[in-house]
Amino acid sequence: MLCGRGALIHFQNSKKTMLSSILPNDLSVAFALDSACIAGRPMVERRLSDLRGCFADQAAYEADLAVANPLLYAVTAVEPASGDGQLHYGLGILYPGKIGEEYYLTKGHYHLHRAAAEIYVGLRGQGMMLLEDEASGESRLVELRQNCCVYVPGHTAHRTINTGPDPLVYLGIYPSNAGHDYGAIASRNFRKIVLEHDGKPFLTNR
Ligand SMILES: [Fe+2]
Repeated sequence: MLCGRGALIHFQNSKKTMLSSILPNDLSVAFALDSACIAGRPMVERRLSDLRGCFADQAAYEADLAVANPLLYAVTAVEPASGDGQLHYGLGILYPGKIGEEYYLTKGHYHLHRAAAEIYVGLRGQGMMLLEDEASGESRLVELRQNCCVYVPGHTAHRTINTGPDPLVYLGIYPSNAGHDYGAIASRNFRKIVLEHDGKPFLTNR
């Protein structure tokens, strides 16, 4: 039996989502594979200047930023319903490029609700996901490309990296209560970095 605040949270989480409460535009969403745009929905854009501190070679970062401030990636979130059992997803596009020998990447994050897992589905291009276990610090580098799915367990920081010549387009599908925590990983950064070595991705210590 639940009492007080626990009972309130249980009640809120157990509210049923009715099919009729979801907008028709959220039930079926068309997107453009080349641009990762969803018509009528805003994209959150991250430019090179937004990723200060993410790349290992800070001198190369500052030199490139002095010349241009390109768009590195953009994400459109789709949130049809929230509450117990519901899902949200994000459509992302990460452009190709490097800072020094390090491939373009996303900031990376944990989920605010640490236990929340996520599925990434590669739609276009070729890249990698860098995973880092919060408790042990263990790192894994796994492939994310067209026709490839990546499972991100809970309690795992995750970053997307474009290792190919074309834009990397992907879907991330996660519980509606996952939330995003960028600060925890930004404060110390990922332990590993992915560099290009002999034309191939190479995982090494920061
Ligand atoms: Fe995530």
